[in-house]
Amino acid sequence: MTHRRKSRGRSLAVAGMAAAAVLLTACSDSGSDNRTQDSVPAGVDQSTLQARGPDAQSINDLFVPFFWIAVVIGVIVVGATVYAAIRFRAKGDDDRPVQVHGHTGLEIGWTVVPAVILAVMAVPTVATIFELAERPEGEVVEITVTGKQWWWQYEYENEGLVTANEMHIPAGEPVVLNITATDVIHSFWVPNLAGKKDAVPGRSHFLKIEADEPGEFLGQCAEYCGLSHANMRLRVIAHERSEYDAWVAGQLAPLSPDEVAFVEAGAEEGGIIQKYGCTACHSFDPTGEGAQVGPNLSHLASRQTFAGAIFDLTEDNLREWLPNAPVMKPMQTSDPQGDAPATPGIVPGMPAFPEMTDAEVDELVTFLLGLE
Ligand code: CUA
Repeated sequence: MTHRRKSRGRSLAVAGMAAAAVLLTACSDSGSDNRTQDSVPAGVDQSTLQARGPDAQSINDLFVPFFWIAVVIGVIVVGATVYAAIRFRAKGDDDRPVQVHGHTGLEIGWTVVPAVILAVMAVPTVATIFELAERPEGEVVEITVTGKQWWWQYEYENEGLVTANEMHIPAGEPVVLNITATDVIHSFWVPNLAGKKDAVPGRSHFLKIEADEPGEFLGQCAEYCGLSHANMRLRVIAHERSEYDAWVAGQLAPLSPDEVAFVEAGAEEGGIIQKYGCTACHSFDPTGEGAQVGPNLSHLASRQTFAGAIFDLTEDNLREWLPNAPVMKPMQTSDPQGDAPATPGIVPGMPAFPEMTDAEVDELVTFLLGLE
């Protein structure tokens, strides 16, 4: 080997190692970097590689061996390509390779071998698809999940309960989700518990999720859905069954008479909720009676986050949010009266209320943080 060829081989090796290093950094456990919420539950990263339920585990059981099969095939193919490129490269103007036309044995080989590999891989793949699509037997928690620009609504079918963004489920039990959307296509994704499932207007898609243990799991919309797609997050909070039942009972409690009076007081008698038309979009009823354009606000204070689970539910955040929500979260806004959508047919997000006074903000914050 000449000196020139040696150094070319060395630079090829260096380039190869650099490429491998770049690829491998993508594999590092950087799940925590994805967390942009103010506060995040401790313990589990938002990662498909950390299965915390049987459905996510089934997917991983398929993914991990297939990944290594792909690695082996990738190394062989890339290795052979690099070898051929170096070994058979042109060494001068007259250095033509031997001219051949086809090789029946080779062609049959590289057709049959991949076909056999794919056929073998199809067996566990199809089995997993059917397993994940199986409806659990018996009485299970069933939740209709509706993607909306840009938050999630959860209707608990058997409990008659409507809530938003933070889904509570019993651990150790399969939960059936019927996933749909009202406006555009979204995608419901809690990587630790299950795969993605598109939320499509006019359709209901089945997804089964289950958490092995109580805990909190982060998720987010996984289908680009407009201005605040990145701000359409969610949490799943898994409880022991008894704690879950207690949560349901707490959520079903109606507002107190004082709270109802606060909501219903007309603008002329100083009612702030009616003055700003909050009930045109938000329900204050645990069963979701009333408007469902924005999240149900009954028991808002029992949630950790708001606005598509992107902000901690704190006094300061609410104080900033109420008069000027679009500054904190980009939304298609209407004029402050809320009767002229920026895009016809598209429901506007929470508008700004520039005329809202500090005293009104205080009163609203106190009221909302009292809705436990
Ligand atoms: Cu909803 Cu992206």
